[in-house]
Amino acid sequence: MKLLIDDANFEKIKRLYEFYPIDGVTTNPSILAKSGRNPYEVLTQIRDFIGKDADLHVQVISRKAEDMVVEGRKIAERLGKNTLIKIPTVEEGLKAMKALSAEGYRVTATAIYTPQQAFLAGKAGADYAAPYVNRIDNLGGDGVQTTMRIHDIYENNGMKTQLLAASFKNTQQVLELAEYGIGAATVGPDVIEGLMKNVTVDSAVEAFIADFEKLVGTGKTMLDC
Ligand code: G3P
Repeated sequence: MKLLIDDANFEKIKRLYEFYPIDGVTTNPSILAKSGRNPYEVLTQIRDFIGKDADLHVQVISRKAEDMVVEGRKIAERLGKNTLIKIPTVEEGLKAMKALSAEGYRVTATAIYTPQQAFLAGKAGADYAAPYVNRIDNLGGDGVQTTMRIHDIYENNGMKTQLLAASFKNTQQVLELAEYGIGAATVGPDVIEGLMKNVTVDSAVEAFIADFEKLVGTGKTMLDC
């Protein structure tokens, strides 16, 4: 399962890339709004930092399919070939997905709350489908189960579309989908860091260091003992 950062905060992206195995970055209009910066300025900075081969997902804003297509082409032209054009999975969006994928652009179907939407997005040629796990949970559904069903629909129909599960609020949601072998998850910085937060592990590592320092002296390592 690929692991992407669902954020446009450059400092957070830099920190996560330094410590974690990260495969790309996703944004949406609300995430870009939080940055308070010009969208292309922040996205270009992210693209330059993650490199031209990493996946960067960027959403169109237009409501009509024809405008989404023009906007999608512009996004790909400005940000490079490994930029996935995110298109909301509504009727107009399906039309735009068909057109852009026929032109060879890579498309991510977003705002997916149901397997029905995901099925149609796959048929429309989307490379990725992004179900909103936690938002589905908040509606009284089961976001993890919904994502698994979509995975099975794609597998059982021989469709090339991969999952890009999104909207996570806890690490358990991420882990259950990793166990199921879905294609990718895009996760906010706090939840990514939560995958590693464990005071028991920290105290075990500290105890090893303390024991070693008792043996050979404070600050010593295997380099200079
Ligand atoms: O990009 C869409 C998705 O990640 C939204 O997440 O946290 O706003 O539900 P959230």
